[in-house]
Amino acid sequence: MTALRPNLTGLDLRAEIDRLRKERNAVILAHYYQKPEIQDLADFVGDSLDLSRKAASTDADVIAFCGVRFMAETAKILSPDKTVILPDMDAGCSLEDSCPPDQFRRFREQHPDHIALTYINCSTEVKALSDIIVTSSSADIILKQIPQDQKIIFGPDRNLGGYLARKTGRDMLLWPGVCIVHEAFSETELLKLKAQHPGAPILAHPECPPHILDHADHVGSTRAILEYALSSDSEVMIVATEPHIIHQMEKAAPHKTFIGAPGADGNCNCNMCPYMALNTLEKLYMALDTLQPRIEIDEELRIAAKKPLDRMLEMAGSTVGKGDVGRPVISGS
Ligand code: 13P
Ligand code: SF4
Repeated sequence: MTALRPNLTGLDLRAEIDRLRKERNAVILAHYYQKPEIQDLADFVGDSLDLSRKAASTDADVIAFCGVRFMAETAKILSPDKTVILPDMDAGCSLEDSCPPDQFRRFREQHPDHIALTYINCSTEVKALSDIIVTSSSADIILKQIPQDQKIIFGPDRNLGGYLARKTGRDMLLWPGVCIVHEAFSETELLKLKAQHPGAPILAHPECPPHILDHADHVGSTRAILEYALSSDSEVMIVATEPHIIHQMEKAAPHKTFIGAPGADGNCNCNMCPYMALNTLEKLYMALDTLQPRIEIDEELRIAAKKPLDRMLEMAGSTVGKGDVGRPVISGS
């Protein structure tokens, strides 16, 4: 049966969201890949690590998480007493989908002498099967703290794992997952664009495959890319990650030009994250009004998943990986 859609015509959604945020004592957290209108009204916009830290430390009663499900689940794992809502519960992630917990458990059992260093882009069940969680901004600094002779399984992103292995010289067993968004960039089209803008540095997220990263002048998390873009002397830059981050770049440096790296046909929308795009102002309003859809996690599972997340927060410390400096971008009221 299809749920009836309420008629929101004529409603000033921004004002209503603001009213509900105050009434509910809610904090709105948004990832850089959210639509501009959501980023603009969020209390905090950040990368996965900063959003986790924010979720762990907030004194709000309600966390309205504008991102994807694994991010909202992370918020609930770290802040179990808060009500955590996600505007659209179908906001998944191809990396999470590529790593079913039962297969990951079997893989771990086949390699009992390895620890599992796991990218935060995975399910709560996979987190519970892991030793340490990392984000793209904390992976490097965490990896450096693990003894050289310790064998490591890295999942689920083979591109981030491969990038870290090349950068640090660590030989890791890689789970074969990918992000469909970062896989969509075309090397041929990127080189054509670079030829049109020869002086423009290429900024890339480590979820990109090696044939894209090979051309990058800077590789880093969303926050690191944003900070590089703002501190660089270059006036034109090519951005190889989900293009909604360009909104923050244009707001902070309106005199610069940021060009999204192209997909296969040169100008497709294939590098927009379809999961992030499920969240809308209408759904955020509804979620704040009804406090649904709400993240619920079995307590035993939550405790198991919290351990490797706590290790990440401890090991990442107050600083983050090389290239990740400065404060997160804060916007909204
Ligand atoms: P970061 O914001 O941590 O760089 O992660 C990017 C991403 O793909 C989130 O899904
Ligand atoms: Fe997952 Fe990729 Fe979307 Fe990030 S951009 S949420 S990794 S599918």
